[in-house]
Amino acid sequence: MNRQMALVIAAITVVIAVALTVFAWRAYEIATGRGEGSGSPRLAAAVKVGGPFELIDQTGRTVTEQDFKGTYMLIYFGYTFCPDVCPTELQDIAVAVDALGEAGERVTPIFITVDPARDTVEMIADYVAAFHPRMVGLTGDEESIKKVAKAYRVYYAKVDDEASSDYLVDHTSFIYLMGPDGEFETLFRYNTSPEDMAESIREILNDRG
Ligand code: NI
Repeated sequence: MNRQMALVIAAITVVIAVALTVFAWRAYEIATGRGEGSGSPRLAAAVKVGGPFELIDQTGRTVTEQDFKGTYMLIYFGYTFCPDVCPTELQDIAVAVDALGEAGERVTPIFITVDPARDTVEMIADYVAAFHPRMVGLTGDEESIKKVAKAYRVYYAKVDDEASSDYLVDHTSFIYLMGPDGEFETLFRYNTSPEDMAESIREILNDRG
C-alpha cells in the first residue's frame, strides 16, 4: 500500500483506540463511583461489563461463566507473547490473591487471551502455571474471543511488524473483579499495587459476607 493510504489507516486506528480508551475509562469512573454521573442508572446500564462466554481452559476443557458461579472471577485479558505489561499484571494478580490468605480461595484468577492464533491450550497451560497454581487460562476461536472481549469492553488489535513474523497486540490492561453471579464488582487499572488490589477485594468480600 502507498504511504498516504498507510497514514489514513494509521489515523483511523488512533481515533478508534482513543475512543475505546475514553469509553473504558468512563466505564471505570462509573463503576468506581468516580466522575460525574456515576449515579445514573441509565449510564450504568449503558456500560454493562461482563457476560456469558464459552471458552477452552488450559486443560482443553470447554468452560462457561457458569463454571465459575459462586466464586469471584479476577479476570485479565492479554497474551502470552506480551513483553511487559501482561506478565507484570498477572504477577500482581497472583500476589494479591495470595495476600488475601484464606479469603483468596473464593477468588479465581483468570487469564483470557486476546491472541488465540498463537495462544494454544498448551501455550496457555505453561503460561498460567508460571504465575499461580489456581490461575485459569482461557483461549478459544477468534469469534469466541471477540465476543468475550466485547462483553468486557476490551480493545485489542494486532500490530504488524513487517521486519519479522512476530507481532505485538495492543490491548486494554484492566483487571476485572466479577461477583459470584457473574456481576461486575470493580476494575483495577494498570499499576494498581497488589496490596491495594487485595485491600479492595477484601472489602468487597467482607461486604458480601
Ligand atoms: Ni499485554
